[in-house]
Amino acid sequence: MAQIEDKLGRRFEKLRISLLNTCNFSCVYCVSDDTGDIPLASTDKLSSSEQQLTPDEFAKLIEAVHQLTGLKSVRLTGGEPLLYRNLYSLVQNIRQIGITDIRLTTNAYYLKERAKKLFDAGVKSVNISVDAIDKDVFNKIARHPDTSRVFGGIEAAVQAGMNVKLNSVIVRGKNESQIVPLLEYATKLGVKIRFLELMKMGHLYHSENGLFFSEEEILSTIKEKYNIEPLPRKHAETAHYWQTSNGGIFGIIANESTPFCHDCNRLRMDSNGIFYGCLSNAHGEKLAPYINNEFILTEKLKGLLLLKQPAKFHGSELSMRNIGG
Ligand code: GTP
Ligand code: 5AD
Ligand code: SF4
Repeated sequence: MAQIEDKLGRRFEKLRISLLNTCNFSCVYCVSDDTGDIPLASTDKLSSSEQQLTPDEFAKLIEAVHQLTGLKSVRLTGGEPLLYRNLYSLVQNIRQIGITDIRLTTNAYYLKERAKKLFDAGVKSVNISVDAIDKDVFNKIARHPDTSRVFGGIEAAVQAGMNVKLNSVIVRGKNESQIVPLLEYATKLGVKIRFLELMKMGHLYHSENGLFFSEEEILSTIKEKYNIEPLPRKHAETAHYWQTSNGGIFGIIANESTPFCHDCNRLRMDSNGIFYGCLSNAHGEKLAPYINNEFILTEKLKGLLLLKQPAKFHGSELSMRNIGG
């Protein structure tokens, strides 16, 4: 296997794929409200032009990269990955390549009816975005009124035996009141929750919007109610974790306050088959023309690795739904 490693010892070990860039939610941090850029999609309305690559096309690209890097896991994300029609075939194709650690990041709206089938197909781990317990607060962020399907989806995933983690982006003035209720919900359900600092992505890239809520503020909010103890951080993990006095485990993904670029092991592919070495890259590289040329593909992957930030994420013009969270 080629040695594709940078000066900091970083390698590509996890591939994140944005299966499609549309979504049935319009979260305020992902979709701008003044451009009319609201990509509302539902399974029925999804047109074939939005379904960009077939499972076979994705699989060929994954296999070529896997042969050179020895990927340890693939995470399917979006947009909303459960809107991708051939999800089960894709999971099967990835397993055939020899990658068995297949994970999903979803808003859980369509998860209830699919959790068991996905688990049986080989998706053992799911990260679910949920930014509030309160219906009105949820609606203010996701701009979708129906929380019951989201909570139904979360609970179905737990019941199916999936390893579930919740992701809550904290947005000043919108959902800081939900930090403790979300933590208590997760603790009761026996799952980990991570609070995310807002990242300057997409329409937030150039704006000074006052929406940022820091790791320190999240910790102070929790400490008002619980004693907490830090837990050790694992290699290349996005979050730092703490344990609360009542047995809950929460993490914070603090791209501003405590970035993890120094040991980041991620490679990304978008729904057009374009690869990015770093979440901060606004431009990527189409690798399809080189999948049968080991030399060029290795050079291209080394080039993508060089584009990783050395120490800190500084934002991206692309939104999460394009580059895949
Ligand atoms: P696991 O470790 O497999 O649970 O995955 P994860 O935590 O990477 O996955 P998830 O899709 O839940 O991503 C959560 C958040 O981590 C994203 O929304 C980003 O805020 C952050 N994140 C993920 N990948 C990167 C990355 O490459 N760079 C930076 N700076 N942040 C990232
Ligand atoms: N800042 C922080 N998190 C974001 N996500 C999407 N956009 C942003 C942003 N600008 C989160 C989603 C999901 C994860 C993959 O990324 O809520 O949990
Ligand atoms: Fe959809 Fe995720 Fe973007 Fe929210 S953050 S609009 S759930 S793709």
